[in-house]
Amino acid sequence: MRNESILVVDDAPEIRFSMSEVLRHEGFTVDVACDGQEAIDKSSKNFFDVMITDLAMPRKDGMEVLSFLKEHSPETICIIITGFGTIHGAVEAMRQGAFDYLTKPVKLEEVIITVDKALEVRELRRENRSLRQELRDIHGFERIVGASKAMQEVFELVEKVAGVDSTVLITGESGTGKELIAHALHYKSEREDGPFVPVNCAAIPEGLLESELFGHEKGSFTHAISTKIGRFELANKGTIFLDEIGEMSSALQVKLLRFLQERQFERVGGVKTIHVDARIIAATNIDLEEAFQKGSFRDDLYYRLNVIPIHIPPLRERPEDIPLLIQHFLLKFCSAKRTCVEGMEENAIRCLESYDWPGNVRELENIIERMVILSNGPIITVRDLPNRILKSSGKLTAGDLSMATLPIDGLSLNSAVGSLEKTLILQALEQTGWVKNRAAKLLQMNRTTLIEKMKKQNLMTLNPEGVK
Ligand SMILES: Nc1ncnc2c1ncn2[C@@H]1O[C@H](COP(=O)(O)OP(=O)(O)OP(=O)(O)O)[C@@H](O)[C@H]1O
Ligand SMILES: [Mg+2]
Repeated sequence: MRNESILVVDDAPEIRFSMSEVLRHEGFTVDVACDGQEAIDKSSKNFFDVMITDLAMPRKDGMEVLSFLKEHSPETICIIITGFGTIHGAVEAMRQGAFDYLTKPVKLEEVIITVDKALEVRELRRENRSLRQELRDIHGFERIVGASKAMQEVFELVEKVAGVDSTVLITGESGTGKELIAHALHYKSEREDGPFVPVNCAAIPEGLLESELFGHEKGSFTHAISTKIGRFELANKGTIFLDEIGEMSSALQVKLLRFLQERQFERVGGVKTIHVDARIIAATNIDLEEAFQKGSFRDDLYYRLNVIPIHIPPLRERPEDIPLLIQHFLLKFCSAKRTCVEGMEENAIRCLESYDWPGNVRELENIIERMVILSNGPIITVRDLPNRILKSSGKLTAGDLSMATLPIDGLSLNSAVGSLEKTLILQALEQTGWVKNRAAKLLQMNRTTLIEKMKKQNLMTLNPEGVK
């Protein structure tokens, strides 16, 4: 038994009969219609996976059925039956979206083969569509978070320019999200169904970059054993993303400039001029303006690339994005690793906000991933943070505390420990505005113990504003 349903439409009863018999025998659910009007009526009431229809019929003909399906039931696959005199009609029907045609006298085994082929193609198309949707979900805008004014401005700019074909130059330090923005630009544009082709100009050896970008003809150099299609050609109807453009050699910069001006090139060793319709997005983490002043980057190429500049500020300049990013990555890694971390305590978030993030969002992402794996409880605490972050936020680590050296003439251990204790208690009180409950939590002890220690250290009278 098969799940699919088929409607056989023909004004000749013997064709309706033989075709529906053979399809039923294959396990399909089959219905019949004796002309185009009946076919339209039936498919307005029920969905058919496949419709096999004659072209010339009374009342409404096959072409009318086809255009009805296109508008009202685009998922139905249409196969045309054509007589000797209507072959032109079949060609026209294919042009209008029919899947295939069968010629009279119809061979019944051919009907089965064509229906199976049609269903297979439809399945592939559906898969393709869902994969594309998945890609859109992965690379779409929804995955980019940022509450800061600076990032909101970046998002607005992306919205505005995604639809136009102008060249975009994305600048920003390493790990700020340049590639993410490039993807979003592609998946928000009309080219979204076309390819997104990334080229990392710094990762491909200088000698190979030209053939990687422009392709080469067989035999054009020693190792060119076959013709290679370059990335520009592969990006036709899509977007090419030239990452780390500042690393490109000056010889290649000239060739790129020509491509940007004329949108055409020749493969290495080739004579045929190839035209490509691709949108260019470039990215760099170096200051290109400075590079062209120093002479390592062509100024004409810089101006060609810098049609629409998008600058992504470093994370340290937008700490207000950090809580949102933490939340975003916690969700991401908890579902990916099937662990359950519910959140992060305020203090830990404050530490992350005051760190200066030389590796930007990528560094934050990596830290969260590590903490999700290593965390012992449902809430990530200051203790789970890496030492470099604790240190830079002025926090003492267990390692720092063990760094004290014993003076040559010795010291009173009790008073040394006492004074360290006093310093840390004071810091905790100051950080928490003298709210003892919170200070006790910071020092990982209960409130009564803290009060006892404060009494011992003569700190009770220091409470500045009478805070509890
Ligand atoms: N605003 C953001 N929201 C969510 N994730 C982000 C954001 N910015 C960056 N990321 C994540 O941080 C990581 C680094 O981003 P990306 O690779 O786009 O940076 P880049 O600027 O291209 O870095 P590089 O210059 O090193 O190539 C990626 O995993 C990306 O998903
Ligand atoms: Mg990148």
